[in-house]
Amino acid sequence: MQNQKVLYNSKKIYSDYAGRNYLYKAEEAILDRLFPELLDMDMLDIGVGGGRTTIYFAPIVKSYTGIDYAHQMIRVCREKFKDRYVFKESDARSMKEYKDNSFDFVLFSFNGIDSFGHEDRLAALKEIRRVLKNNGYFCFSSHNLNWESLSNLLSFKLNKPDSQRKDQFENPFRCFFYKAKLKYRTIRLNFLNRSFKTKDLISNLRKRDYGHFYDNSLNGKAKIYYITYSGQLRQLEAAGFKNISSYSINGIETRDESELNKGGWIYYLCQVYK
Ligand SMILES: C[S@@+](CC[C@H](N)C(=O)[O-])C[C@H]1O[C@@H](n2cnc3c(N)ncnc32)[C@H](O)[C@@H]1O
Repeated sequence: MQNQKVLYNSKKIYSDYAGRNYLYKAEEAILDRLFPELLDMDMLDIGVGGGRTTIYFAPIVKSYTGIDYAHQMIRVCREKFKDRYVFKESDARSMKEYKDNSFDFVLFSFNGIDSFGHEDRLAALKEIRRVLKNNGYFCFSSHNLNWESLSNLLSFKLNKPDSQRKDQFENPFRCFFYKAKLKYRTIRLNFLNRSFKTKDLISNLRKRDYGHFYDNSLNGKAKIYYITYSGQLRQLEAAGFKNISSYSINGIETRDESELNKGGWIYYLCQVYK
């Protein structure tokens, strides 16, 4: 199985991220909330990818540094933004080049923190806490283990045809091969997750608060970390973060799990205390 860094360095993936230029509703809400303070902040954008968030945050903050462990992502950002901002190759789990208390705001968007397993996640949280100043903000999103439609992610379903793929559905041969490919991918995921009973797999993971398994992201080629809302709150508190706010996929700030569980991701905004 390929490791995620190799996947993120592949042309298909880095070109996809480089083409993204929007903010999610939760990110818009968080930007609005922090806005006047951002003007005075030194910001670290971890797992910057193709610079989706750079477009919105970098022109506002006092200083902006984007890091990513994937060489190709950093290359793309340097090409895109020239020398306007700093981009460096660095791994969130060990950011030795940054001194303690260097930043006011750390962002790790689009579930980048779910790219690695539990111990590595705790190591990354420790590093983020170290490089943040006292009361500095940490914002990130993470896959929601209690998402009400989680089982859809463990299978590749036939989506409604869009105009580009209409042919795939109208031509019976192409339709057959397309369906067969989706079936193959679903069976492959079941094998990788060592479970053909999706509901059992999910309920077992939920009992533990977090889990690391193959879903259909990155074409089902990598394990992704999922955590429940309450599990994430406990994890952040144990790692030395406070004042935790949560935002649903609809950009609503809430602690109401019926709203939060409508989405496959939850956004968190918290502060470090030292
Ligand atoms: C899902 S992409 C999101 C990219 C970008 N933040 C966005 O929102 O479009 C996750 C990014 O995190 C990076 N990443 C994953 N693990 C990392 C780590 N340990 N250290 C630094 N970057 C990491 C990947 O290379 C990838 O660019």
